[in-house]
Amino acid sequence: MRIDGKTRTCGLIGCPVEHTLSPVIHNTLSELLGINMVYVPFLVESEAVKSAVEGAYALNLLGMNATVPHKAAVIEHLKDVDDLAKRIGAVNTLVRVSGGYKGYNTDMNGLLRAMQSEQVGIDGETVLLLGAGGAARAVAFLCVSQNAKKVYIANRTLEKAQLVAEEVNASFGTDIVKVITMDDAAKIPENDIVAIQCTSVGLAPNNDDVVTSDETLYQKIKTGVDLIYNPYETRFMKLVREHGGFAMNGLKMLLYQGIIAYELWNQVSITQDQADHVLKKMKEAMGIAE
Ligand code: ATR
Repeated sequence: MRIDGKTRTCGLIGCPVEHTLSPVIHNTLSELLGINMVYVPFLVESEAVKSAVEGAYALNLLGMNATVPHKAAVIEHLKDVDDLAKRIGAVNTLVRVSGGYKGYNTDMNGLLRAMQSEQVGIDGETVLLLGAGGAARAVAFLCVSQNAKKVYIANRTLEKAQLVAEEVNASFGTDIVKVITMDDAAKIPENDIVAIQCTSVGLAPNNDDVVTSDETLYQKIKTGVDLIYNPYETRFMKLVREHGGFAMNGLKMLLYQGIIAYELWNQVSITQDQADHVLKKMKEAMGIAE
């Protein structure tokens, strides 16, 4: 990497930031494409978000990513916000525009592109979301925006699922988002569903945990997507595979949220070969053998 007078800078604001894989994604892309851009982590405390965004603009930063806990807090400091990000109320990518930054949610577009890369669609599908926290809520917005036929939110605490469903239905003027308790999830009438595991249950070191092990439910799942990527194969994914379904983890979501951010900053299109190369570098950084 050669840094000179024309080098552009992008970075990640979050707290903590030291375990991030984003520098691997962006610096690998710059190297591959020969783009004079460097990506660095910035540890930013919550009370400093406003000055961080203003300071980034003053320092001519090309763009930024925002991660926990700043994804909602950055919004009020932006010049403009993309429609899906605005509906969700969470921004993870800031793109420099005249006078400030425009915010996007490439986490959700990244999930969509990761699924597309595995020939998994949302359009016209019945989608079952497991969980009703922040991640599930964002995925529910994505599913409705991508014309899912029906979206079920299954959660241990039904009231939480109800609040999310009401909010998403109201945002799009629809009633396709329904709720069900986790214990009753297998009772949904549809078969061949796409199930997206949006809780932290099963995350390392609790590799043997799973939100549900109901056989009848797994028989209905043709595709299971776990947002978790550590472990590389979660118990949820194992159960989906054991019942004949296709399963994928969340690593490609992480890859593509970065790729989409990089494309927005540099106005380029990343090819499949380039994406595959970055994924390999991410796995190396994580110590995952091919
Ligand atoms: P995030 O914002 O990262 O999505 P969160 O808001 O903490 O995370 O949400 C966690 C989700 O995981 C919730 O849906 C939670 O269910 P409850 O609403 O019933 O609490 C779910 N969850 C967490 N631990 C769980 C467990 N042991 N069994 C079932 N669901 C669990």
